[in-house]
Amino acid sequence: MAETTVAVVLAAGAGERLAAGEPKAFIAIGSRSILEIAAANAEACEQVASLVVTVPPGTEEQARGILGSLSKPVVVVVGGASRQESVRLALAAVPADAESVAVHDAARCLASPALFSRVISAATGVDGAIPVVPVSDTVKRVVDGIVAATVRRQDLALAQTPQVFPADSLRDVHARAAAEGLSFTDDAAMFEWTGLRVVTVAGEETNFKITTPADVLRAGAVLGGDVDG
Ligand code: CTP
Ligand code: MG
Repeated sequence: MAETTVAVVLAAGAGERLAAGEPKAFIAIGSRSILEIAAANAEACEQVASLVVTVPPGTEEQARGILGSLSKPVVVVVGGASRQESVRLALAAVPADAESVAVHDAARCLASPALFSRVISAATGVDGAIPVVPVSDTVKRVVDGIVAATVRRQDLALAQTPQVFPADSLRDVHARAAAEGLSFTDDAAMFEWTGLRVVTVAGEETNFKITTPADVLRAGAVLGGDVDG
Protein backbone atom coordinates (compact mmCIF):
# COMPACT_ATOMS: atom_id res chain seq x y z
CA MET A 1 0.00 0.00 0.00
CA ALA A 2 1.92 3.04 -1.27
CA GLU A 3 -0.86 5.52 -0.47
CA THR A 4 0.33 8.61 1.35
CA THR A 5 -2.19 9.80 3.90
CA VAL A 6 -1.89 13.10 5.74
CA ALA A 7 -3.92 13.66 8.92
CA VAL A 8 -5.49 17.11 9.25
CA VAL A 9 -6.16 17.57 12.97
CA LEU A 10 -8.59 20.43 13.61
CA ALA A 11 -7.91 22.23 16.87
CA ALA A 12 -8.67 25.86 16.02
CA GLY A 13 -12.05 26.05 17.75
CA ALA A 14 -12.70 28.34 20.72
CA GLY A 15 -14.47 25.74 22.82
CA GLU A 16 -17.31 28.11 23.68
CA ARG A 17 -19.59 25.39 25.01
CA LEU A 18 -16.82 24.06 27.22
CA ALA A 19 -16.19 27.61 28.47
CA ALA A 20 -12.91 26.60 30.11
CA GLY A 21 -11.16 29.97 29.74
CA GLU A 22 -8.83 28.71 27.01
CA PRO A 23 -9.30 26.93 23.68
CA LYS A 24 -10.65 23.39 24.03
CA ALA A 25 -7.58 21.73 22.47
CA PHE A 26 -5.38 22.96 25.33
CA ILE A 27 -7.59 21.54 28.10
CA ALA A 28 -6.00 18.61 29.91
CA ILE A 29 -7.55 15.16 30.22
CA GLY A 30 -5.40 13.64 32.94
CA SER A 31 -1.83 14.73 32.27
CA ARG A 32 -2.11 15.46 28.54
CA SER A 33 -3.96 18.11 26.54
CA ILE A 34 -6.75 17.16 24.15
CA LEU A 35 -4.48 18.23 21.27
CA GLU A 36 -1.61 16.03 22.43
CA ILE A 37 -3.86 12.98 22.85
CA ALA A 38 -5.52 13.49 19.45
CA ALA A 39 -2.24 14.02 17.61
CA ALA A 40 -0.58 11.03 19.30
CA ASN A 41 -3.45 8.74 18.28
CA ALA A 42 -3.34 10.01 14.68
CA GLU A 43 0.42 9.63 14.47
CA ALA A 44 0.28 6.09 15.89
CA CYS A 45 -1.62 4.94 12.79
CA GLU A 46 1.09 3.59 10.53
CA GLN A 47 -0.64 4.73 7.31
CA VAL A 48 -0.45 8.37 8.49
CA ALA A 49 2.71 9.92 7.03
CA SER A 50 2.47 13.43 8.51
CA LEU A 51 0.10 15.83 10.24
CA VAL A 52 -1.26 19.32 9.62
CA VAL A 53 -2.79 20.85 12.76
CA THR A 54 -5.03 23.95 12.86
CA VAL A 55 -4.87 26.10 15.99
CA PRO A 56 -6.42 29.39 17.15
CA PRO A 57 -4.54 32.60 16.22
CA GLY A 58 -1.75 33.37 18.67
CA THR A 59 -1.41 29.80 19.97
CA GLU A 60 1.06 28.51 17.38
CA GLU A 61 4.02 28.39 19.78
CA GLN A 62 1.99 26.71 22.52
CA ALA A 63 0.83 24.13 19.97
CA ARG A 64 4.34 23.52 18.63
CA GLY A 65 5.48 22.88 22.21
CA ILE A 66 2.74 20.31 22.71
CA LEU A 67 3.42 18.64 19.35
CA GLY A 68 7.20 18.62 19.80
CA SER A 69 7.12 15.06 21.11
CA LEU A 70 5.71 13.67 17.83
CA SER A 71 8.12 11.77 15.63
CA LYS A 72 6.28 12.28 12.32
CA PRO A 73 6.42 15.66 10.52
CA VAL A 74 3.82 18.15 11.73
CA VAL A 75 2.87 21.54 10.31
CA VAL A 76 0.96 24.00 12.51
CA VAL A 77 -1.37 26.43 10.72
CA VAL A 78 -3.71 29.09 12.05
CA GLY A 79 -7.31 28.02 11.54
CA GLY A 80 -10.22 30.04 10.20
CA ALA A 81 -13.50 31.41 11.52
CA SER A 82 -15.37 28.15 10.89
CA ARG A 83 -14.44 24.48 10.92
CA GLN A 84 -14.86 24.35 7.14
CA GLU A 85 -12.53 27.32 6.71
CA SER A 86 -9.98 25.63 8.98
CA VAL A 87 -10.03 22.53 6.76
CA ARG A 88 -9.55 24.68 3.67
CA LEU A 89 -6.57 26.48 5.22
CA ALA A 90 -5.08 23.18 6.38
CA LEU A 91 -5.37 21.73 2.87
CA ALA A 92 -3.08 24.49 1.61
CA ALA A 93 -0.38 23.04 3.89
CA VAL A 94 -0.94 19.40 2.88
CA PRO A 95 1.99 18.25 0.71
CA ALA A 96 1.10 18.07 -2.98
CA ASP A 97 2.05 14.38 -3.16
CA ALA A 98 -0.48 13.34 -0.49
CA GLU A 99 -2.93 10.89 -1.99
CA SER A 100 -5.53 10.99 0.75
CA VAL A 101 -6.39 13.21 3.69
CA ALA A 102 -7.86 12.13 7.03
CA VAL A 103 -9.81 15.08 8.43
CA HIS A 104 -10.15 14.73 12.19
CA ASP A 105 -11.59 16.79 15.04
CA ALA A 106 -9.05 17.16 17.85
CA ALA A 107 -12.15 17.25 20.06
CA ARG A 108 -12.54 13.52 19.23
CA CYS A 109 -9.20 12.83 20.84
CA LEU A 110 -10.06 9.26 21.81
CA ALA A 111 -10.30 8.04 18.20
CA SER A 112 -7.93 5.06 18.19
CA PRO A 113 -5.06 4.45 15.75
CA ALA A 114 -6.98 1.34 14.66
CA LEU A 115 -9.98 3.48 13.71
CA PHE A 116 -7.74 5.73 11.58
CA SER A 117 -6.40 2.63 9.92
CA ARG A 118 -9.87 1.17 9.26
CA VAL A 119 -11.21 4.38 7.69
CA ILE A 120 -8.08 4.95 5.58
CA SER A 121 -8.28 1.38 4.24
CA ALA A 122 -12.01 1.72 3.48
CA ALA A 123 -11.42 4.95 1.54
CA THR A 124 -9.08 3.29 -0.93
CA GLY A 125 -10.67 3.09 -4.38
CA VAL A 126 -13.87 4.96 -3.41
CA ASP A 127 -14.81 8.65 -3.06
CA GLY A 128 -14.39 8.68 0.70
CA ALA A 129 -15.04 6.88 3.98
CA ILE A 130 -16.34 7.95 7.38
CA PRO A 131 -16.86 6.20 10.72
CA VAL A 132 -20.43 6.03 12.05
CA VAL A 133 -22.15 4.64 15.11
CA PRO A 134 -25.77 3.50 15.38
CA VAL A 135 -28.43 5.67 17.01
CA SER A 136 -29.72 4.01 20.16
CA ASP A 137 -32.51 6.41 21.10
CA THR A 138 -35.91 6.52 19.44
CA VAL A 139 -35.83 9.59 17.19
CA LYS A 140 -38.90 11.80 16.66
CA ARG A 141 -39.54 14.41 14.04
CA VAL A 142 -41.01 17.32 16.02
CA VAL A 143 -42.84 20.24 14.40
CA ASP A 144 -43.88 23.19 16.57
CA GLY A 145 -43.59 21.09 19.71
CA ILE A 146 -45.81 18.29 18.36
CA VAL A 147 -44.53 14.81 17.49
CA ALA A 148 -44.96 14.48 13.74
CA ALA A 149 -43.28 11.12 13.15
CA THR A 150 -40.94 8.45 14.45
CA VAL A 151 -37.91 8.27 12.18
CA ARG A 152 -36.75 4.81 11.07
CA ARG A 153 -33.71 4.30 13.25
CA GLN A 154 -32.15 1.77 10.86
CA ASP A 155 -31.71 4.59 8.34
CA LEU A 156 -29.82 6.81 10.78
CA ALA A 157 -26.21 6.92 11.94
CA LEU A 158 -24.09 9.36 13.89
CA ALA A 159 -21.10 10.63 11.91
CA GLN A 160 -17.65 10.74 13.48
CA THR A 161 -14.15 11.62 12.34
CA PRO A 162 -11.53 10.83 11.00
CA GLN A 163 -13.15 11.23 7.57
CA VAL A 164 -10.87 10.16 4.72
CA PHE A 165 -10.99 11.37 1.11
CA PRO A 166 -8.67 11.50 -1.91
CA ALA A 167 -6.68 14.73 -1.50
CA ASP A 168 -7.60 16.07 -4.96
CA SER A 169 -11.34 15.67 -4.55
CA LEU A 170 -11.27 17.10 -1.02
CA ARG A 171 -9.46 20.20 -2.30
CA ASP A 172 -11.96 20.41 -5.15
CA VAL A 173 -15.14 20.22 -3.03
CA HIS A 174 -13.75 22.77 -0.57
CA ALA A 175 -12.92 25.19 -3.37
CA ARG A 176 -16.38 24.76 -4.89
CA ALA A 177 -18.18 25.19 -1.56
CA ALA A 178 -16.15 28.33 -0.79
CA ALA A 179 -16.82 29.73 -4.26
CA GLU A 180 -20.55 29.22 -3.77
CA GLY A 181 -20.52 30.48 -0.19
CA LEU A 182 -21.99 27.24 1.13
CA SER A 183 -21.29 25.88 4.60
CA PHE A 184 -21.44 22.26 5.67
CA THR A 185 -21.08 20.70 9.11
CA ASP A 186 -18.68 18.00 7.99
CA ASP A 187 -16.59 17.10 4.97
CA ALA A 188 -18.71 14.12 3.97
CA ALA A 189 -21.67 16.49 3.51
CA MET A 190 -19.75 18.27 0.74
CA PHE A 191 -19.25 14.98 -1.05
CA GLU A 192 -22.99 14.23 -0.75
CA TRP A 193 -23.66 17.69 -2.22
CA THR A 194 -21.51 16.89 -5.24
CA GLY A 195 -23.05 13.45 -5.67
CA LEU A 196 -19.96 11.48 -4.70
CA ARG A 197 -20.25 8.20 -2.79
CA VAL A 198 -18.93 8.04 0.74
CA VAL A 199 -18.81 4.65 2.42
CA THR A 200 -19.19 4.02 6.15
CA VAL A 201 -17.21 1.91 8.57
CA ALA A 202 -17.91 1.09 12.20
CA GLY A 203 -16.96 3.99 14.47
CA GLU A 204 -16.16 3.79 18.16
CA GLU A 205 -18.49 4.54 21.09
CA THR A 206 -15.55 6.13 22.89
CA ASN A 207 -14.91 8.43 19.91
CA PHE A 208 -17.42 11.02 21.10
CA LYS A 209 -16.76 14.71 20.51
CA ILE A 210 -15.71 16.51 23.67
CA THR A 211 -18.12 19.45 23.73
CA THR A 212 -19.26 20.09 27.32
CA PRO A 213 -17.64 19.82 30.79
CA ALA A 214 -19.47 16.48 31.23
CA ASP A 215 -17.65 15.16 28.14
CA VAL A 216 -14.29 16.09 29.72
CA LEU A 217 -15.19 13.97 32.75
CA ARG A 218 -16.30 11.11 30.51
CA ALA A 219 -13.04 11.24 28.53
CA GLY A 220 -11.09 11.25 31.78
CA ALA A 221 -12.95 8.12 32.85
CA VAL A 222 -12.19 6.38 29.53
CA LEU A 223 -8.49 7.27 29.89
CA GLY A 224 -8.51 6.30 33.57
CA GLY A 225 -6.52 3.15 32.92
CA ASP A 226 -4.03 5.02 30.72
CA VAL A 227 -0.87 5.13 32.85
CA ASP A 228 1.66 6.20 30.21
CA GLY A 229 0.32 9.78 29.91
N1 CTP B 1 -12.48 23.75 14.70
C1 CTP B 1 -11.49 24.38 13.96
N2 CTP B 1 -11.69 25.66 13.51
C2 CTP B 1 -12.84 26.32 13.79
C3 CTP B 1 -13.87 25.68 14.53
C4 CTP B 1 -13.66 24.39 14.98
O1 CTP B 1 -10.42 23.80 13.71
N3 CTP B 1 -12.97 27.56 13.38
C5 CTP B 1 -12.26 22.40 15.22
C6 CTP B 1 -12.34 22.35 16.75
O2 CTP B 1 -11.09 22.70 17.33
C7 CTP B 1 -12.78 20.94 17.02
C8 CTP B 1 -13.53 20.54 15.75
O3 CTP B 1 -13.27 21.54 14.78
O4 CTP B 1 -11.71 20.04 17.24
C9 CTP B 1 -15.02 20.40 16.00
O5 CTP B 1 -15.54 21.65 16.45
P1 CTP B 1 -16.30 21.86 17.84
O6 CTP B 1 -16.42 20.59 18.58
O7 CTP B 1 -17.50 22.69 17.56
O8 CTP B 1 -15.20 22.72 18.67
P2 CTP B 1 -15.24 24.24 19.06
O9 CTP B 1 -15.68 25.03 17.89
O10 CTP B 1 -13.92 24.55 19.67
O11 CTP B 1 -16.35 24.27 20.21
P3 CTP B 1 -17.56 25.31 20.35
O12 CTP B 1 -18.40 25.13 19.10
O13 CTP B 1 -18.25 24.91 21.62
O14 CTP B 1 -16.93 26.69 20.42
MG1 MG C 1 -17.69 24.78 17.08
